[in-house]
Amino acid sequence: MNLEIDRDGLLSEIETLAAFSDAEAPAVTRIVFTATDLKARAWLKGRCEQSGLKVRYDAIGNAFARWDGSDRAAPVVGTGSHIDAIPNAGKYDGVVGVLGGLEAIRALQRCGFRPRNSIELLVFTSEEPTRFGIGCLGSRLLSGALLPAAARKLTDKDGATVDEVRRGAGFEGELEEVKLPSGYHKAFVELHIEQGPRLEREHLPLGVVTKIAAPASLRVSIEGAGGHAGAVLMPDRRDALCAAAELILAIENAARSTGAIDTVATVGICEVFPGAVNSIPSQVRLSVDIRDTDLRRRDDVIQALDTACRAISAKRQVSVRSELLNADAPGDCAPIVIEALSQSCRKHRLTFLSMVSRAYHDSLFIGRIAPVAMLFIPCRDGYSHRPDEYASPDDIVRGTLVLAETLAILSA
Ligand code: GLV
Ligand code: MN
Ligand code: MN
Repeated sequence: MNLEIDRDGLLSEIETLAAFSDAEAPAVTRIVFTATDLKARAWLKGRCEQSGLKVRYDAIGNAFARWDGSDRAAPVVGTGSHIDAIPNAGKYDGVVGVLGGLEAIRALQRCGFRPRNSIELLVFTSEEPTRFGIGCLGSRLLSGALLPAAARKLTDKDGATVDEVRRGAGFEGELEEVKLPSGYHKAFVELHIEQGPRLEREHLPLGVVTKIAAPASLRVSIEGAGGHAGAVLMPDRRDALCAAAELILAIENAARSTGAIDTVATVGICEVFPGAVNSIPSQVRLSVDIRDTDLRRRDDVIQALDTACRAISAKRQVSVRSELLNADAPGDCAPIVIEALSQSCRKHRLTFLSMVSRAYHDSLFIGRIAPVAMLFIPCRDGYSHRPDEYASPDDIVRGTLVLAETLAILSA
């Protein structure tokens, strides 16, 4: 089998997809179910159909593009990732796994490979939490990690529900139908940029992921008392933003003081009401992201956050309410997929690092119902979720080649 990746075609598709954006280049913003996201989806569907893949969507808008195998009753070999992008992101996060997955399928088609198991490209809805506050919406529903009733309660910042928004985007049917039947996948493999610096630092072209760290996210609402910035004297204040400032530092401190390099905590959103320079902040809403490879340690940081909320509330006479949006277990990758990836790397004489994914991915949830593993390629300076995110053409092509070889092994 002479696998060849169409380098120019793949790179040009990455550029085309990056142009579907609500931010000025090089930044990419593509929030799920916006007009821009829907245009990008339509373009991608066309690319898949041009390669003879049959495309279907489920009720939450996950897209499945299938290349039928010779045994249609056999479980599917899946690959894919996401194309939604957080505000002011780059063009490679998720996209390399989607367009690389499509190109891997085309490379297999071109070299005359005939799969026994169908190979299916899965483009997950809303891997990013931007719109509904929870990441991996599509894969959570596919795996049953999120129940339809809980998904229906999620709203965006305008108060629109998941059901309203997805139906408005043209994705009909019931959320109950999204969960995949057991045994649907024989294996699932996701290609992705590393989003961290290890591969580049260690001069290694590829990483094979053995474990995905455990993510959690919370929303904290603080309510104090507003008033005139000139007239209310300092002893009389109950400033919600000052309370939030203490809490943010307490969260940082809790993550730093576990003593483990794997513990990370971020307050990525701080909304201040009413947001006027001469008005004391009366309400603040924080969005908090806490992760670790170790579940106990991660949960200890959540506990420390709750303790800090109570202490700050008492000290500053403000009300503090924290709401846990998700707290997921870490995921172990499956030996059969890890072995297929390792075998492919060896075949192409490529060295790789066995590594943990500190970012979460849809594979974390698909891993609950199917054997999964991930293949990482380096990204410059480890940057991701920023406009200067960059993966080199050579690395993208290498990752796609190894992905194609792996899909061949798993579907033969
Ligand atoms: C995924 O985008 C993550 O935040 O890990
Ligand atoms: Mn991301
Ligand atoms: Mn991603």
